[in-house]
Amino acid sequence: MKRDFLDVTDFSKEEILRLFDRAKYFKQERGRLARANLLTNKHFGLLFTKPSTRTRVSFEVAILELGGTPIYLSGQSTQVSRGETVKDTACVLSRYLHGLVVRTFHQEEVTEYAEWFIYPVINALTDSSHPCQALADYFTILEKKKRLEDLRITYIGDVNNVCNSLILMADILGISIRLSHPPGYGISETVKKRMKNPSLLSTSHDPEVFIPDADVIYTDTWISMGEEDKAAQKLAVFQPYQVNESLISKAKPEAIFMHCLPAHRGQEVTDGVIDGQHSVVYDQAENRLYCQKAILEFLYAG
Ligand code: CP
Ligand code: NVA
Repeated sequence: MKRDFLDVTDFSKEEILRLFDRAKYFKQERGRLARANLLTNKHFGLLFTKPSTRTRVSFEVAILELGGTPIYLSGQSTQVSRGETVKDTACVLSRYLHGLVVRTFHQEEVTEYAEWFIYPVINALTDSSHPCQALADYFTILEKKKRLEDLRITYIGDVNNVCNSLILMADILGISIRLSHPPGYGISETVKKRMKNPSLLSTSHDPEVFIPDADVIYTDTWISMGEEDKAAQKLAVFQPYQVNESLISKAKPEAIFMHCLPAHRGQEVTDGVIDGQHSVVYDQAENRLYCQKAILEFLYAG
């Protein structure tokens, strides 16, 4: 039976740890193109109805380096943009392709693609989740901190798709996660209910309270793709939650700063922080490639 990767909860803790081992292997072996024939004669559609730099390029390179063929299908250039249904699209693409990587708006849409597409479907971001990002984020944390136990992750800003996946993967891995956000922009009841161990979660409206003992300080854009109409209102509310030099000066020297990127410099983070000594954002982005390879290997080689 095929496996999909639609949400972080599709993988068990053991499977996630195995994916980290494999991502480490792919990183070490990058120059030697390990498993270069894994996806030979397999073709992958990257069906993206939102823009992407990292997810698209890391998947395309991962597929190419594993011997497969990526085909980029922008939402605008396919009949999806003219109302062709998910079912028809998925059933037809099943006749040409062996995998689908989907970036779209509603989570239900990726679930529906997985229902009709006969090979694995990978969620490349929806309005409510970004599981591939979370995998690379915890892989980066493990790489930088050399452990996953006894860590404190502080997420500051908008509790969005990236944050939801960070929370749910923290729950699977048993890692403490703290959220600082403005009133009215906190964790959804749906995500809260999905946590198996809610005691791992702490929340506050104070932007500073979780900084001094944080091992990881993470932020993301205040305005996610598709929310452009809320920009004026959100920019004002989120200003006190900017990760700037004053805030980061209260952190431990060994705390790392993470951001899934793209960053909006001067909004959720300042140049001084993202280019500063705590930042690991480019390593984090690089690790997307090795984690995509690990995901593909898992789904296609078992
Ligand atoms: N972090 C991330 O998913 O980046 P892209 O939108 O560039 O893919
Ligand atoms: N929260 C952001 C993540 C981009 C990778 C968005 O959805 O736009």
